[in-house]
Amino acid sequence: MNQDDLKRQAAEAALDHVEGGVIGVGTGSTVNHFIDALATVKSRIEGAVSSSEASTARLRQHGIEVLDLNATGELSLYVDGADESNGRLELIKGGGGALTREKIVAAASRQFVCIADESKLVDRLGAFPLPVEVIPMARSYVARELVQLGGTPVWRDGFVTDNGNLILDVHNLQIEAPAELETRINAIAGVVTVGIFALRPADVLILGSAQGPRTLT
Ligand code: 5RP
Repeated sequence: MNQDDLKRQAAEAALDHVEGGVIGVGTGSTVNHFIDALATVKSRIEGAVSSSEASTARLRQHGIEVLDLNATGELSLYVDGADESNGRLELIKGGGGALTREKIVAAASRQFVCIADESKLVDRLGAFPLPVEVIPMARSYVARELVQLGGTPVWRDGFVTDNGNLILDVHNLQIEAPAELETRINAIAGVVTVGIFALRPADVLILGSAQGPRTLT
């Protein structure tokens, strides 16, 4: 099985958590498999809240109604991928640049089910460059602040988020205390969202593996 097969396996296993109502849907290649699988049980749900324009388009292609989070209230379930997870289900997200809306939908959901292939499980977060969404005029200032924290920020040149902002990918961070670093980076003026999901980690992690889906809680 290749990595994409393992992503599909995890995505299909997440269907067991879909019980009805409106569900939150993340972004990325693993979530694309989830959206395709969700289409096979779409009569079970009332619709979806999407975390990106890309996922919205895919959901609509499948005839799944996309709803505004302001109109739904709390969601029972959010399903999304990750770039890294540690054993406490604290995540790095934002490789696809959708981290801000992902963090909003995760915050508004009772249960966050993260789906990934098993290579995403790590002992310590930080080998994957940490995405930080920034207001354009603050790009250089925020980059200097991130250097003070020991990181090496690289501007994701040519990429604009769905919110009209920029992404700095921060290399060389040793993330010993994810929640503390999340709070610290959040506090830098001009930062919209940092891709550490530790203050609101996942509740369930489903990993695709050669032995079949593995669930961590
Ligand atoms: C997008 C994300 C994705 O969930 C993350 O990048 C994982 O992507 P993939 O499922 O393609 O490996 O955070 O902003």
